[in-house]
Amino acid sequence: MANDILITNIKGLAQVREISPTFLSGAAMGDLPVISNSYLLISDGLIADYGKMENVPSIHAKEIIDASGRFVFPSFVDSHTHLVFAASREEEFVMKIRGASYAEIAAKGGGILNSAKKLRATSEDELFENALERAKEIIQLGTGAVEIKSGYGLTVKDELKMLRVAKRIGKLTPLTVKTTFLGAHAVPAEMKKAEYIKLIIEEMLPAVAEENLADYIDVFCEEGFFSPEETERIVMEGKKQGMKPRIHANQLHRSGGVQVGVKTNAMSVDHLENIGEEEIQILKNTKTMPTVLPGAAFFLNLPFPPSRKMIDEGLPIAIASDYNPGSSPTGNMQLMISMACIKMKMTPEEVFNAATVNTAYAIDLAQTHGSITRGKVANVFVTKPAPSIAYLPYHFGNNFIERVILNGKIIEH
Ligand code: NIG
Ligand code: FE
Repeated sequence: MANDILITNIKGLAQVREISPTFLSGAAMGDLPVISNSYLLISDGLIADYGKMENVPSIHAKEIIDASGRFVFPSFVDSHTHLVFAASREEEFVMKIRGASYAEIAAKGGGILNSAKKLRATSEDELFENALERAKEIIQLGTGAVEIKSGYGLTVKDELKMLRVAKRIGKLTPLTVKTTFLGAHAVPAEMKKAEYIKLIIEEMLPAVAEENLADYIDVFCEEGFFSPEETERIVMEGKKQGMKPRIHANQLHRSGGVQVGVKTNAMSVDHLENIGEEEIQILKNTKTMPTVLPGAAFFLNLPFPPSRKMIDEGLPIAIASDYNPGSSPTGNMQLMISMACIKMKMTPEEVFNAATVNTAYAIDLAQTHGSITRGKVANVFVTKPAPSIAYLPYHFGNNFIERVILNGKIIEH
């Protein structure tokens, strides 16, 4: 066994779980297990051992990192992104500043259709190069595993192109990548909705399945996009092809997305800016992970999801970035957790649980990612010196990470 890295004198080794939980809900979200004055041993790309410094093993490690005054965490798992896109959309940002709404911009051919136009004109290699830059950026910000969606192609060829790029990111970077087919993101300008849904079901889904390009199927369930009935029909067809559902639900309206998600056993329902009592009750005792995307709520000036109330009622919460050019042009999970503390009244313990254990569950990585557990993939980061864990989300806007280790290897800047 190759002892690759020994991290010593850790001020606090956070999110240590002897037995990996499936996910954390309600009061359990408030508990973040930390071992103070500790060590972490990484061997063969995996977490081999950890404990108090007084028990540090006297072994030869290729690399020793002294983490005095610093915390060590498992890397963030970002369970919702649109990381593959062709171009930024700051012109819409300015339109929004001047008073236009997201829905108005979308109705005028901006928004998702604007991204689709640009993506169709971009080659697969160029798209990959663009996405690679974003992948490198989120790695430095502490993300170790990420879900990436299609949904800016809206033709068979371009949806496949996006998913191939996402898969390539998984192969050619240290990130663990899960992919989601989101053909039902918007209806392309050149088609009627019924015709497009037929294309999704009869041509896109079989082609995506044939190349084994997607783990999940997603639909933007929203007024002006896809109705709950259409969402259900599309995800049920995806299920037949082996893709598990996850839903863009309740972003702009009480769209019925949560109800369809629960009914179809979705892995997660994401956004939730517009949910009420009924949706909260429906989510209870289900396996569907309610996922909040603080970047999108902030960027679009939407109400923040009622995470505090949901946790107090016993629900789990996951936090993801929604990295995309239209509603959250950042994949910075550090910023997401700060916003969740500040705008949603989640505690520092809760936000770290939401962005590691719960997001790992949401993309079927609970067995391998999201906590410091023996045998899990050695995806960890070492913070800069910090007085406490609460200081990390408190000192928002600052990169609190000093070193990143993915798959047991130190990532150079
Ligand atoms: O999750 N809401 C739908 N999809 C993305 C935004 C897409 C876009 O505007 O490009 C989201 O916010
Ligand atoms: Fe999204």
